[in-house]
Amino acid sequence: MTSSVVIVGASLAASRCAAALRRGGHDGAITVINAEAHLPYDRPPLSKQFLSGEWDADRLPLLKPEQLTEFEIDWRMQTTATALDVDTRTVTLDDGSTVQGDHVVIATGAAPRRLPGTEGIAGVHLLRTLDDSTGLREELAARPNASVVVVGAGFIGAEVAATAATAGHRVTIVEAAAVPMERGLGAEMGAFCGSLHADHGVDLRLSTGVTGVRAGADGRIAAVELSDGTELVADVLVVGIGVVPSTAWLDGSGLTLDDGVVCNAHCEAAPGIHAAGDVARWPNERFGEVMRVEHWDNAVEQGIHVAKRILGEATEPFAPIPWFWSDQYEHKIQLAGRPKAGDLVEIVTGSMEERRFAAIYGDGERLTGVFGLNRPRHVMQYRRKLAEGVSWADALHFAEEARSGS
Ligand code: NAI
Repeated sequence: MTSSVVIVGASLAASRCAAALRRGGHDGAITVINAEAHLPYDRPPLSKQFLSGEWDADRLPLLKPEQLTEFEIDWRMQTTATALDVDTRTVTLDDGSTVQGDHVVIATGAAPRRLPGTEGIAGVHLLRTLDDSTGLREELAARPNASVVVVGAGFIGAEVAATAATAGHRVTIVEAAAVPMERGLGAEMGAFCGSLHADHGVDLRLSTGVTGVRAGADGRIAAVELSDGTELVADVLVVGIGVVPSTAWLDGSGLTLDDGVVCNAHCEAAPGIHAAGDVARWPNERFGEVMRVEHWDNAVEQGIHVAKRILGEATEPFAPIPWFWSDQYEHKIQLAGRPKAGDLVEIVTGSMEERRFAAIYGDGERLTGVFGLNRPRHVMQYRRKLAEGVSWADALHFAEEARSGS
């Protein structure tokens, strides 16, 4: 197949899409527009093993040296796309040049939200890229026993807090919501995950906003003012308050943009134009829900799905069961499915007290999710049940049988 493909973005979804195209026999040109100075790298270690210093950057590349040679990708490094002509599938680049493809894949991901008032203050960090993580890693290493204030108890906040606390820093997390990670985990499991921080001496301030930040005479962050009137001393401030899909370059393109690039069930935004990864919003028919998923596994699967579409292979709509993990302290947290606020939650093995358990979620009718703390086998077991679409009653029955060993 000799059609040409332009992939805009160069992270996980883009790499997996390019690799799947080549493995599937695509022999036309593949051009990848990469805003960064680095070839694609894996992000999960940026808040964990790389940030702690346990791993170096040589463990992060997503493509092996032999794949870089074999795939013959035309990399446009440190280049951003500024516009897309949907009819001709022509991408305009920031140097004014254009690149046209038979297919365009939008894989521009998302960018972290900034905390107002922190612009230009040294010691304030966002965490998304390798350069972000390198900057934070160097600063934490240079300041032993630092007062680290983390704003946001989502995935970035929780993982950075765990890494920093494990390295001996004094960590406070400031979270606007009443429950950490409620969006992904629900109220009960979110609250439980919050308690893991208390186990490790991290001060978690819930239902608390940041009203201001104060820099010292040296221009470095000195303190954070909170909505409850208190002030926290801060040597380092990490902001993890969510991300915004990177679609500004598509304004006026005619594509439907609504908290992401809106696609059909096949991840197609317009003829010959697909989206994959954090930037894509599509109707997941398995859940009857239009979703945008900001997790590693989805970027992999969606990138591969789009490649198969381009190869003319995939006929089924893209309808995965979302799944993610988060490593915090000595714990492996995993969730599969799409539980909703208010779903029933039932612990099926282990207990919260022993810090090792699995819990299932259900809406009364169907099994909707499974949460595991240090129980990967059970998560995978119930993930298969989710794929089978089992009822809540059958899931409970299965759990009961498993408990009694029959
Ligand atoms: P997030 O959406 O997971 O969490 C943001 C948190 O910040 C929420 O709890 C929210 O209530 C809170 N918040 C928002 N505004 C606030 C404010 N002004 N003051 C205090 N708290 C505020 O986003 P996060 O943690 O920034 O992560 C960014 C992206 O990276 C997400 O897409 C996430 O899924 C992804 N990620 C995933 C990981 C995983 O799957 N293990 C690990 C790290 C990041």
